[in-house]
Amino acid sequence: MDANELRQKYIEFFKSKGHSEIQGKSLLPENDPTVLFTTAGMHPLVPYLLGEEHPAGKRLVNVQKCIRTGDIDSVGDFSHLTFFEMLGNWSLGDYFKDGAIRMSYEFLTSPEWLGIPHESLGVTVFAGETNDSAVIPPDDESAEVWRALGFSEGRISYRPRSDNWWGPAGETGPCGPDSEMFIDMGLEPCGPDCAPGCGCGKWLEIWNDVFMQFNKDADGNYIPLVRKCVDTGMGVERTVTILTGKKSVYDTDIFAPIIAAIERATGYKYGVNDDHDRSVRIIADHTRSATFILGDPKAVTPSNVGAGYVLRRLIRRAVRHARKLGGGEHILAGIADVVVAEFSSPYPELFENRAFIMEELNKEEDRFSETLQKGEREFEKLLPNLMKDPKKVMSGRLAFKLYDTYGFPIELTEELARESGLSVNRAEFDEAFRKHQELSRAGGDQVFKGGLVDHSEITTKYHTATHLLQKALQIVLGPHTAQKGSNITAERMRFDFSHPAPMTEDELARVEAIVNEQIRRDLPVSMKVMNLEDAKAAGAMALFGEKYETQVKVYTIGDEASGGVFSLEVCGGPHVERTGVIGSFKIQKEQSSSSGVRRIRAVIG
Ligand code: ALA
Repeated sequence: MDANELRQKYIEFFKSKGHSEIQGKSLLPENDPTVLFTTAGMHPLVPYLLGEEHPAGKRLVNVQKCIRTGDIDSVGDFSHLTFFEMLGNWSLGDYFKDGAIRMSYEFLTSPEWLGIPHESLGVTVFAGETNDSAVIPPDDESAEVWRALGFSEGRISYRPRSDNWWGPAGETGPCGPDSEMFIDMGLEPCGPDCAPGCGCGKWLEIWNDVFMQFNKDADGNYIPLVRKCVDTGMGVERTVTILTGKKSVYDTDIFAPIIAAIERATGYKYGVNDDHDRSVRIIADHTRSATFILGDPKAVTPSNVGAGYVLRRLIRRAVRHARKLGGGEHILAGIADVVVAEFSSPYPELFENRAFIMEELNKEEDRFSETLQKGEREFEKLLPNLMKDPKKVMSGRLAFKLYDTYGFPIELTEELARESGLSVNRAEFDEAFRKHQELSRAGGDQVFKGGLVDHSEITTKYHTATHLLQKALQIVLGPHTAQKGSNITAERMRFDFSHPAPMTEDELARVEAIVNEQIRRDLPVSMKVMNLEDAKAAGAMALFGEKYETQVKVYTIGDEASGGVFSLEVCGGPHVERTGVIGSFKIQKEQSSSSGVRRIRAVIG
């Protein structure tokens, strides 16, 4: 069975059960700030799951393109994908647990449909929990239906929220317990507790029936839904893998033409070397995702914020791996062309937007080449000092700085180091990277949890922009405006400062213009370690009330050559090298933060 046949059978089955087929929606969610991409078929249906009438009725079925990037670092193994297609059926206040489970079972096992033997199946149900606001009982109702369908106790596993609870897709929205279906891969149980849902490899999830019973509100309360709904999701790629007895999604017909294109483009034959095979899988997955994002009617282009930033990372990571395998310039476009050809039948928008996809891929690849060149130049500057080290080891901290400031991949640093007879302290780099990720996670916007966590380049740019903003505020409002705090995520900055009154339209426009002017001037940013008193004497701004060491880093934006210093600030960094890379600056909102303190929310890019 291939993907086309599976899609068609699924739709046909549910139509025969009174469902209306509805169109899949854009990968870029409309009017929904809680996620960057459509992550599941239920996502465009949220208003209907919360009670609105759907024009197509109470029973719906479709195929939805989805992107999930939470596990992006796992892509390259045999199963993770960032783009996938989800088959789904919904009941909007019509059938509930009994109906949903019976239909799932029939589709899975009936010889007319998927024909999976009953003996190969196992299921999980929600074990229940008591939390601060509610007691949610175990889902015996679902278990009872499975028992009635002939499942013995060993094939029904009760599992906690981490396994058997779905949603909401963002921070708020419909959610509830779910019941998942698994295929027994025939391996020996990993231990006495090995049961459906165990992650050891014996049980592979094939389908998820979610019973939407609650709406989670912004305060974290679970409000019972008046009209209970069913939301199900079956991944096309995974199901085809299981049904065709393949070991990996990448071994299926879905990926075969893409992998063949990568082989042609790089000259590397898949299956020879484990490390290179991993690169092939990364290129295949990321290029497919990037093609679908760019081919979407609501396409975003690579940028430094939100979905555009995810797209940028996908493209750059794919390019890097393609080059590692020996690919030349503009390598992704040819591979993307195969994705367009393969998927244009179910997704004609890919063909319609083909020229745009190619153009954007090539442009981003060129921009990435520039970044790499800059990083290489920086490395060469460091080299004479590195060569003086008797052990010929480059510190992990320095390697991390190259990564953090220039977006220079560690593998490349290692490669350059090797060419000069040096090694890199990888353990130290990994430690710095891990710490940085934890910090990013802690400070990251909720919305970004569905996206990428690694946003070092963008936060660095935001960071420099806060220095420009602070100086601009002092110019426009007066020297009393001191910074009271700031918060940066990959998507926006928040900047708090002392000022007694709301800013006028005119003041906001002037501040914005001053910041943009400094960006346009492409001012250099430099750093000096100074004695704190000297720094203050030189007029450096510092955070009031903050404890500093006696020796501090002072960042200067602008210099004599560029027409003078614009800003001087005590700060830990890091910052961009030149302001031009910030792109542009826009104030979105100015409001009160607390008494005598105003808050500005702004974006760059
Ligand atoms: N929305 C559910 C999922 O994505 C069906 O698993």
